[in-house]
Formats: sequence, C-alpha cells, structure tokens
Amino acid sequence: MKSIVLKFPVSQIKNDKDRQNGKLLFSKEVNFLKGVVDVEGLPKDDRVEICFAGRSNVGKSSLINALTFRKSLARSSNTPGRTQEINFFSLGNTNYLVDLPGYGYAQAPITKVKKWQQLLNVYLTGRVSLRRVFLLIDSRHGVKDLDDSIMMLLDQAAVTFQIVMTKTDKSNKIDLTKSLHKTRIALSNHPAAFPEILLTSSAKMSGIDALRSTIANIK
Ligand code: GTP
Ligand code: MG
Repeated sequence: MKSIVLKFPVSQIKNDKDRQNGKLLFSKEVNFLKGVVDVEGLPKDDRVEICFAGRSNVGKSSLINALTFRKSLARSSNTPGRTQEINFFSLGNTNYLVDLPGYGYAQAPITKVKKWQQLLNVYLTGRVSLRRVFLLIDSRHGVKDLDDSIMMLLDQAAVTFQIVMTKTDKSNKIDLTKSLHKTRIALSNHPAAFPEILLTSSAKMSGIDALRSTIANIK
C-alpha cells in the first residue's frame, strides 16, 4: 500500500544534537538592541537574522519572550498594536531576533499605519541578512487574507517563510486539525513556504524547544 506523504508536516526535533544546538544558542546572552522606525535606523546587516511577523495580537512578542526564557524582554499586551517599532534583539554575537509590529492593526492613525506598512514591506523584502520569516498564525483561526498577502509579498521577494501556529493551548484538537488543514492548503500556493509547520504555545511553553532548534539550524 502506498504511504501518504503529508505535505507541510509538523516540525519535530530530529535528534539530540538538534536539541542541544537549540539550547546552546538560546543560552547565550540576549539584549534589546534598538527599536527602528525608518529604514535608516536598521542596524548593519552582518548577523544571521530571523523575524517574527503576523497579525496584530497573534503572539509575536510573547514568543520571543518564551524563546529567550524572559517574561518581558519583548513587550506583549492584550491590546493589539502593542509593538510599534521593528525591535531588534541580539542573541549572542551571531544572531538577531526581530519583533515586528503586527500588520492589519487599523486603530492607529492612518498616516502611522501607512508608514509602518511601508517600513514592514521594505524590511521584509529588502533585508539581505534576513534568513527566514517566521509567520505566526493563530491556531484557532488559520490563515486569513492578510496573511496570504504577506505570503505573496515574500514569494515575490523569494524570502523563505515558515508558519508558526500560536496559542495552541487555546484551541481544541478539532479546531487545531481544521486550521492546520486550511493552512496546508493555503501554503501549497506559495513557493517561498518552508516545508514544515511549527505548533507552539508560549503560555504552556510547548513547541518552543523545536523552534529553538529550528532557529539554531539557520546559518
Ligand atoms: P502586537 O505587538 O500588538 O502585534 O501583538 P503580538 O503579536 O506581539 O502579541 P503579544 O505577544 O503581545 O500577545 C498578545 C496577547 O496574546 C497577550 O495577551 C498574550 O498574553 C497572549 N498570548 C500570546 N501567546 C499566547 C499563548 O501561547 N497562549 C495564550 N493563551 N495567550 C497568548
Ligand atoms: Mg508585539
């Protein structure tokens, strides 16, 4: 009987070495470097850089805190639109972790929203050292139109993105299976999609080790 190959499987830690590499990288010192509001403010692109993108309130800042064993390194909040700058965190002397403002947050003044949007687009498509975009999707809701438009932008710029489903502690098994299915269908149209999906909960610290290992494998 033919075995069914599942496209976009859930990412697992492959072996002990992978786990160790993740632990080792995230045992290094983490510091907030700067918040950037325009292209001129971007730091020199001389480190392995990964960023966290996604709709407002999806859990980007919380995920950075979970990864780095910190409670409030990146400011998180129940109020959408908490992160308003491109925040750079140095990890050891090799990596930058970048916390982005949420897209789709419309309650800010229109001129501000436009400025963020432009900066986000320039950053996401033009940053040479950006190795991978982790695109966060709320596990209760799956891919929305706005997510899809970011994926298209990244396809066009040939920037690899990997889906991280967040807040899995809040979704039951049936909903999670449904939104995973929807997400896999959406990803099949996107050549820049990394072929594995991560499932995480920052609240319960689940899937965080796998994400650490994934990041440590990005050179
Ligand atoms: P913006 O900066 O506004 O774009 O939001 P964000 O994507 O950085 O989200 P943030 O990390 O600020 O989290 C938004 C809300 O979701 C906060 O109230 C968090 O406590 C909550 N949250 C984040 N991750 C999780 C999770 O894994 N589980 C649960 N239950 N809540 C979470
Ligand atoms: Mg944030």
